[in-house]
Amino acid sequence: MAEFSLPANSKVRKDGRVFKAPASAKNVRVFKIYRFDPDSPENPRLDSYEVDMDGCGPMVLDALIKIKNEIDSTLSFRRSCREGICGSCAMNIDGKNALACVSACAEVRNDIRIYPLPHMPVVKDLVPDLTHFYAQYASIKPWLQTRTAPPPDGERLQSKEDQEKVDRPSACILCACCSTSCPSYWWNSDRYLGPAALLAAYRWIVDSRDEATGERLDQLEDPFRLYRCHTIMNCTEACPKDLNPAKAISEIKQMMAHRRH
Ligand code: SF4
Ligand code: SF4
Ligand code: FES
Repeated sequence: MAEFSLPANSKVRKDGRVFKAPASAKNVRVFKIYRFDPDSPENPRLDSYEVDMDGCGPMVLDALIKIKNEIDSTLSFRRSCREGICGSCAMNIDGKNALACVSACAEVRNDIRIYPLPHMPVVKDLVPDLTHFYAQYASIKPWLQTRTAPPPDGERLQSKEDQEKVDRPSACILCACCSTSCPSYWWNSDRYLGPAALLAAYRWIVDSRDEATGERLDQLEDPFRLYRCHTIMNCTEACPKDLNPAKAISEIKQMMAHRRH
């Protein structure tokens, strides 16, 4: 899997604080964690936490929760479901974008390095500012758009085959692992929608019940919104739900090409 660089504009100070484990601890792992506090002059820095894994669950999120509860309550990170379904614990673990709650500490050999998602503004520590990411998602109008009246006696139905087209893309949890692993998104996120929003656009474009397909494609017909994707494939590699945004983007491009002929 590709490794990614640190958050933009960050010369991380390596002389951060060191939190030692108790001398009695037998199974110690070191977590090196990116710290950024808007109210601190020491930004950003890398703090080291020695964690006794004998008293800790197996996942990176378990260790972060233990650090916050027992060692340093100032550490900030997002989490909710701890089941890999809410997407809120996405961060950069050992150089790869991943969900902390489903990333086993045992999969990392040496010290466990944890940074926020790359190239995003940081609110605090491991919490990126996703305002722009969500605005881009909203811009593709992620809801069913119809012009005709619904059937009088029930819902708008679709065939099993048509449902299968939207089944996988609908599993996106908006964790942002893909977009923040995409070099095109790093450099052009002001205008390029990025793989997460484009996968969502694809999900509605191929929905047989949606009646705004033309408008949706018109919206993407722009040198930046769609065409900044250069099929580098980092996005698909990074997706913790095994989705394929790169393929969806390529299919949208093919639909655009067919419209022109
Ligand atoms: S395939 Fe496109 S969206 Fe995915 S990482 Fe590459 S440039 Fe970004
Ligand atoms: S496509 Fe995958 S990596 Fe991208 S936001 Fe959705 S779940 Fe996360
Ligand atoms: S806490 Fe929900 S995906 Fe990790």
